Amino acid sequence: MTAPPRSDALVFFGATGDLAYKQIFPALQALVKRGLLNVPIIGVAKAAWTVEQLRARARDSLTHHGGLDRGAFEKLSALLRYVDGDYADQRTFAALRGEMGKAERPLHYLAIPPSTFPEVVRHLGESGCGTNARVAVEKPFGHDLASARSLNDTLHSVFPESSIFRIDHYLGKEPVLNLLYFRFANARLDATLSRDHVDHVQITMAEHFGVQGRGKFYDETGAIRDVIQNHILQLATILTMDAPVGHDVEAIRDEKVRLLKAIEPLDPEHVVRGQFRGYRDEPGVARDSKVETFAALELRIENDRWAGVPFFIRAGKCLAQSAIEIRVQLKKPVRDIYHEGAPASEYFRFRVGPDITALAVGMRIKRRGEPMVGRDVELRAWEDQARDMLPYERLLGDAIKGDADLFGREDSIEAQWRIVDPVLDLGAPPLSYDPGTWGPVEADRLIPAGWHNPIETQRAA
Ligand code: BG6
Repeated sequence: MTAPPRSDALVFFGATGDLAYKQIFPALQALVKRGLLNVPIIGVAKAAWTVEQLRARARDSLTHHGGLDRGAFEKLSALLRYVDGDYADQRTFAALRGEMGKAERPLHYLAIPPSTFPEVVRHLGESGCGTNARVAVEKPFGHDLASARSLNDTLHSVFPESSIFRIDHYLGKEPVLNLLYFRFANARLDATLSRDHVDHVQITMAEHFGVQGRGKFYDETGAIRDVIQNHILQLATILTMDAPVGHDVEAIRDEKVRLLKAIEPLDPEHVVRGQFRGYRDEPGVARDSKVETFAALELRIENDRWAGVPFFIRAGKCLAQSAIEIRVQLKKPVRDIYHEGAPASEYFRFRVGPDITALAVGMRIKRRGEPMVGRDVELRAWEDQARDMLPYERLLGDAIKGDADLFGREDSIEAQWRIVDPVLDLGAPPLSYDPGTWGPVEADRLIPAGWHNPIETQRAA
C-alpha cells in the first residue's frame, strides 16, 4: 500500500490564541526538532500582527511551555509566515493563497471556535485554498448530535471524509496509546476483560483546578460536553473494543465505532450533575448558571462481551485532586475457600495522568505467619510522563502524513453525541459541592461498591 502524500504547508487558524500558545508552538518545535516538519507554517488570525510578532509569541510560548530549543526554534522561525485578517473576509483567503506559494496539498488546522467553521470552510473552498487540502478541527465538534451532523455537512461541502481530521487530544496521549497496546499485546490478560470476569468498571477524570479563566467557554459547555462526550468515551472505547480485524487503514476506527454503537444512550435517572460553590462568581459565567462542573453517571454496553457490566464514570472541576484513572474491578472468587469474607480484591488499574502513567494489577496474597489469612497488594508498572511525546506533536505529525488512525471519524463522533444527547441540558439545577471534595454526595448512591478514589502520591501511582 502506498503512503498518502505529505502535506506541503501547514496553515493554522487561531495562531494568536490560547491553544496555539500552550500546545501548538511546543508541538511544532518538537516536530521541527525531529526533522518531521520542513514546510511553510502559516499562522492566520485577526490581531493586526506582523510575522515578527508571531515569532515573538512563539518564543514566549516555548519559554513558558516545555522550553526553547535554540536550534529548532531558529528553524521554526524561518518556516513561520503570517496572514492577518477577518475570517469573514474573502481577502484574508486571497492573501493566504498568495502566502501558500507553490504549496498544493496544505493542511488547514482550525484552532478556532466551531461557530466560525462554516465561514472559514466556505472561504477555503471558494479561494482555492481547500483544493487537495486536508483539514484538522479541534473539539468540541458541535454542541449536540444535530449540530455535529450539520458541522459534518459543512466540512463535507469542501473536504472529502478522508481529508478530515477531527482532533481529540486524548487520542494522542502516550498513556492512552499504552492502554490500546496493552490490550492487544497481552491476549491472556485481555481475555479477562469481559462480563465473565469483570464486576464493574470505574473511570474517574478528576481535576483539582477550576475553569482557569475559560468561564465563558465552559458556561456554554459543561462537564458532559467538555470531557465525557469525547475524552472519557474514547477511554471507555479503547478499554472495551474488540481487536481490530485485518490491516485496513480503517481497522481500528471500524472497531471503535462498532463498540460506540453498542453503548446505550445515557439515562437521566443514572446521572448526577454537580456545580462547585463559587463557580457562578467566575468571570464569564452566568450568575444563575445551571451548567454542571461535575457529572457522575452509569453507562452500559449492550454487546456479547459487556452486557450486564455497569460502567461508572465521573468527571469534574475543583475536585479533591487531579487524576485520570480507570479501574476494572474483577469478580470475587465463586467460593470463599479461606472464609475471610474479604471484599473483591482483584482489579486492573490504568492511570492515565497527570504526570504518571501506571498499569497495575490488584490481588490478594497470604500474610506471613501460620493462619491462612491474606492481604491486598498491587503489582505496578509505572512511568513518568515528563519525556512523553506531546499529544499535539503526535497528532499534527499524523495529520501532515495523512494518517487518520487517531482522529474521530464522522460516524464515531455522531455515535458519541447519540450517547450523551439525552442528558444534555437537563432542566434541573445541578447539586452544589465544595471545592476540594469528590463532588456531591449524591454521586455515591450511583455505585453500590463505592468509588475508588485514585491513589494520591507519585510513588503509589
Ligand atoms: C480539554 C478540556 O479538552 O481537556 C479541559 O476542555 C480539560 O476542560 C482538558 O481540563 C484536560 O486535558 P488534559 O490533557 O490536561 O488531561
